[in-house]
Amino acid sequence: MNQERFGMSEHAIPKFDELNVTLKKATGWELIGVEGLLPDDVFFGHLSQRRFPVTWWIRKKEQLDYLSEPDLFHDLFGHVPLLLEPVFADYMHAYGCGGVKAAKIGADALKRLTRLYWYTVEFGLIRRPEGLRIYGAGIVSSKGESIYCLESNNPNRIGFDLERVMRTQFRIDTYQQTYFVIDDFESLFAATRPDFAPLYAKVENLPDFAAVDVLPTDLVLNAGKHAAVSIA
Ligand SMILES: [Fe+2]
Repeated sequence: MNQERFGMSEHAIPKFDELNVTLKKATGWELIGVEGLLPDDVFFGHLSQRRFPVTWWIRKKEQLDYLSEPDLFHDLFGHVPLLLEPVFADYMHAYGCGGVKAAKIGADALKRLTRLYWYTVEFGLIRRPEGLRIYGAGIVSSKGESIYCLESNNPNRIGFDLERVMRTQFRIDTYQQTYFVIDDFESLFAATRPDFAPLYAKVENLPDFAAVDVLPTDLVLNAGKHAAVSIA
């Protein structure tokens, strides 16, 4: 397991310098410590240079299930282990480069890109031969959502589609109502390689989908109990 490769355990938070030796050698990424959430352009700038910002502060024991802001547990134990995976590491880099471009294009492009991050890097599921697995750090750092996203009949589980994701709103005040499922990191990376500018222009005047919607065109793995069928 990648957490073990890093020397992470329930008893230990490794030093950034030690993590960076392992990470640099594996995928060329490095970690930098930050105070909290960064402005979009600064955050994207770091990712585009293969630097991942990790928040210094850590939650209290009673906050283990949910936090509205990222802390060290979320960033380090949630996000960082996947940066050892070469294809996922390349996806994060491509995402950062896309972010630098989107910040120049404008607010609508940034909104689309944020949705992509939300539904993949934070709340993504992946299909494995042994069944659905979690790769999103927002899920991994919540014990409750880790169980809910795999076992509950409430949320939709839908095959990943880039345009669909960019048109889908999300909720930050509850467990997710829809999870998008990828087949592998290669196809996720392939979807993010082309320039997004034509896609932003295409979806700019199309209606958004609500977080709970299921569309006739969706590849539906599971329609949640509260699914609303949309024909938008
Ligand atoms: Fe995060």
